Amino acid sequence: MKKYIQEQKDWIDKEVYKRIEELTEEGRLRDAIMYSMEAGGKRLRPLLMKATFDSFSSEKPVYISAAVALEMVHTYSLIHDDLPAMDDDDLRRGQKTNHKEFDEATAILAGDSLLTMSFEMITADAHLTSDQKVFIVQQLSAAAGPKGMVSGQMWDMQHEDLETDVETLKTIHLNKTGRLIAFSIVTGGYLAGLQENSLKKLREAGAAVGLIFQIQDDILDVTGDKEKLGKPVGSDESNKKSTYPKLLGLEGAKQEKQKYEKTVESILRELEAEGTPVAELISYMSQREY
Ligand code: IPE
Ligand code: IPE
Ligand code: MG
Ligand code: MG
Ligand code: MG
Repeated sequence: MKKYIQEQKDWIDKEVYKRIEELTEEGRLRDAIMYSMEAGGKRLRPLLMKATFDSFSSEKPVYISAAVALEMVHTYSLIHDDLPAMDDDDLRRGQKTNHKEFDEATAILAGDSLLTMSFEMITADAHLTSDQKVFIVQQLSAAAGPKGMVSGQMWDMQHEDLETDVETLKTIHLNKTGRLIAFSIVTGGYLAGLQENSLKKLREAGAAVGLIFQIQDDILDVTGDKEKLGKPVGSDESNKKSTYPKLLGLEGAKQEKQKYEKTVESILRELEAEGTPVAELISYMSQREY
């Protein structure tokens, strides 16, 4: 799986840089955008979209702009997540956070640019039909917006310092992380031609993958290695965040993760997608160390 991921990263990187060159002008803003995009990152969301598409279709890839857009929205969310007003972190993707390398205003604007560029890119893609564009724009904006990722981030901030129960924490994680991850899987399936009943199942699986991913992120904030992660460990504790290890202990968090792994397995079985690229990628993501 590691080799597959490494191979795929190249086309994603190339496409990302090409679009940024097309959609920005030379100068400080482009430099700040490129700084965070070139820093790497695992590119798991675009990969998940591709892996889902490949699991259900052997047609030519039409997911490229949606996959790049998603990585841009994700990167914007990280730049803003690291700001002093939010998690106030200094290290991201193995280098200084955007506002540390540039300044807060530039980091905010780099994030704004990535968010808006992503929609401009989808609407300009000649390989997509109008219906496909509407679907992608609608789903991505809903996943990223104030009933999706942004609401998760708001709740995450509002619950600092508070006693939180597992149900509330689940809602936070589903929104702040689950929605973009579910978008990647659902869009991969949609572009592969799956019908609404299957997409509904993929949406459920995607939400569970989001929970698995964020629970593992919370675990790694306690047990992970700063060098490997390329971001600080212990950030959640110092910000008094609600996390799974805090609420349930490390063992309890792992058990909760396993519960959602079973959910995903059973949905993929229903879709006859066991052993497909998407099934393998999800297992890999769940066990990741960075
Ligand atoms: C980090 O996401 C933020 C979360 C939603 C947990 P990733 O772990 O995918 O970050 P990159 O893209 O590899 O830097
Ligand atoms: C951030 O969650 C999720 C989003 C950016 C939407 P975290 O705050 O846990 O992510 P990291 O640990 O800083 O990557
Ligand atoms: Mg955060
Ligand atoms: Mg953070
Ligand atoms: Mg985290």
